[in-house]
Order: sequence, then C-alpha cells, then structure tokens
Amino acid sequence: MPYLVPASDQAIARAARRLREGGVVAFPTETVYGLGADTFNERALEEVYELKGRPPHNPLIAHVEGAPGARRVVAAWDERCERLARRFWPGPLTLVVPRAARVPSRATAGLATIAVRAPAHPVAQALLAAFGGPISAPSANRSGCVSPTTAQHVAEDFSEAADLLIIDGGPCPVGIESTVLDLSGPVPRVLRPGAVTVEQLREALGADVAAVPVTEQAASPGTSPWHYAPRTPALLCATREIPRRLEALREPAAVLAWSGLPVAPPHRPIAMPRDPRGYAARLYGALREADSSGASVILIEEPPPEEGLWAAVRDRLARATQR
Ligand code: TXA
Ligand code: MG
Repeated sequence: MPYLVPASDQAIARAARRLREGGVVAFPTETVYGLGADTFNERALEEVYELKGRPPHNPLIAHVEGAPGARRVVAAWDERCERLARRFWPGPLTLVVPRAARVPSRATAGLATIAVRAPAHPVAQALLAAFGGPISAPSANRSGCVSPTTAQHVAEDFSEAADLLIIDGGPCPVGIESTVLDLSGPVPRVLRPGAVTVEQLREALGADVAAVPVTEQAASPGTSPWHYAPRTPALLCATREIPRRLEALREPAAVLAWSGLPVAPPHRPIAMPRDPRGYAARLYGALREADSSGASVILIEEPPPEEGLWAAVRDRLARATQR
C-alpha cells in the first residue's frame, strides 16, 4: 500500500523533497487529487505516465504559483491570460497557451502548447511554495477511471505503488476537474467544462468563447469521451423512466438520484444533492460507491437542464455513461 500522511508542514516538506529527488507524490487540490512530478524532470514525468497507465499522447497540466509561476513555463502571456488569472486564480481554471522552449516536451506530450493552472487548495499551494517550481500533475487515478476526490480513492487506485506518498487533505471541495480553456487560437475554446463556467469566461473576456461538445472531444488530445467511466455499465435516465427500468431489472442496480425518487430493495439508492455545487462535490465518490456496490448497472437520474455548473456535471455524466 502507498503511504497516506495527513497534511502538515512536515508532510509537505517531505513531499517537496521527494519532488526534488525526482519522485512522484499525490496531493489534494480544490478540484480532484493530483499525481505530481517536477515539470522539468523528464524521468519523473515518465513515472507519472507509467503509474497512471496514461497514453503518452495525453498532455499534463503544470500547476504553478499564480501568473509569475506561469510565466516560467509559457512562451506568451497576453492580456487575456492576465485578465483571467487575475479574476479566477487561484482556482479551477486551466489555460492552454504556447509552451516555453525550456519546458521538456514530455510535460506536454510533445505539443507546442502547455496547460497551466494555479490551484486554490492550501495544501497544493504550500507544496508549490515548498518545492519552488511548477508541478505537472494529472488527476491521481488510473487512466480511464473515475477521478479521485479523497486520499483514500488515490490509495485504492494505486494500492500496488508501495512507495507512493499521498498527502491527505480531506475531500476536494469542488469535486470535478478544472475548466480547460484553450487560448492558443484566435477564439478561446473550452475543451473541458468545469466550475469556472463558459458564461463567466465570456463575461471576463468580453468576447466569444466556444464550447467543444463532449462528442467532438476525441479530436482534442487526451480527452477521449469515456475518460471518466466507472467499471460498471452506467446509464443516464429521465426521472420518470427510472421506476419502469428498475422493475424490469433482475439484478440490483445502483441509482444516483437527486430528486428524492423512491428506490426499493434490492436496488440501492445513492442520494445526490439537488444543488449543482453539492452534486459535483459528491459525484465521483458516488460513482465509486456505486461501482463497488456489486450492482449490475448504475442508473443516473438526468440532472436539470440548466447552464452554469450543471453543464460541467452533464459533461462528466455523458463521459461516464458513454462507451
Ligand atoms: O482539476 C484539474 O485539472 C486536475 C487537478 C489535479 O489539477 N487535473 C486534471 O488533469 O484533471 P488531467 O491530466 O486528468 O486532465 C488534463 C486535461 C486533459 O484533458 C488534457 O488533454 C488537457 O487537460 N490538456 C493538458 N495539456 C493540454 C494542451 N497543451 N492542450 C490541450 N489540452 C491539454
Ligand atoms: Mg484525469
């Protein structure tokens, strides 16, 4: 088993030392846990890919200490970046911009652009400060699985990585991955919706922002639509369809429902919050629970058709239910 240590100054100093020695550490961010390595150490980056089983063409996000940190890894930092960083950093917004020549190509899967984000979580910030440089980190799950929102999720996914250090900072408050905004072209494009919404980005930039629908995302690197799928088959269902489906099922189903609709044994209800923030924060834990409940299928009640954070939730549900 990996070792899980509660967040403390000592734990953070130990993790920073590991990063300097070329090691990999798992740490909490406000979105999900990350599996981090020194952005400038190719061997360490390689170990991240190996541990995760991540396809080599899927680039990583460099975590930085604000705009000054970002400037060390990017080739261009324009007025739009400055404005977005001032408004949304530290926070769940990742910016894709031209990569500085000195960043190893392994950090971006060979792309000429790099994704950068300044996390808001105090433990992630303390780790960045103690390490003193950018930390490249994908979500700390095995490739293709549901992202981890607790240190225990990380330990479960990497149970065989005996020397992996995991800093336990409790559950991640946002619960879904950051918004990824591509600023490398003339029109900003949201490649992955998140807690910073398209509406907020349009307002902050005073310009159009394109959203790439989940079904077209296989074209952008590493965003295969089934990226966040549980192992058990999962289906999205309209509220009124659920009772009929449950009746027809012979084997137990797990049901993620936000409307309070009744679910009788042998089926297993997993109550979801009605508000989008609560729902997002609970989602990956609920999917993991459903996945390990022995259910033959996971039925997910369609969330409200509203914009904002619900749009990001629908994106993750579309990925979780698409095969
Ligand atoms: O909230 C988050 O973003 C979490 C925490 C740990 O910060 N990280 C995360 O990393 O979700 P990951 O590797 O699971 O997802 C990164 C996403 C992928 O979809 C990847 O394709 C995209 O960002 N990405 C990274 N670099 C890119 C680039 N240069 N161009 C386009 N997309 C990029
Ligand atoms: Mg991921």
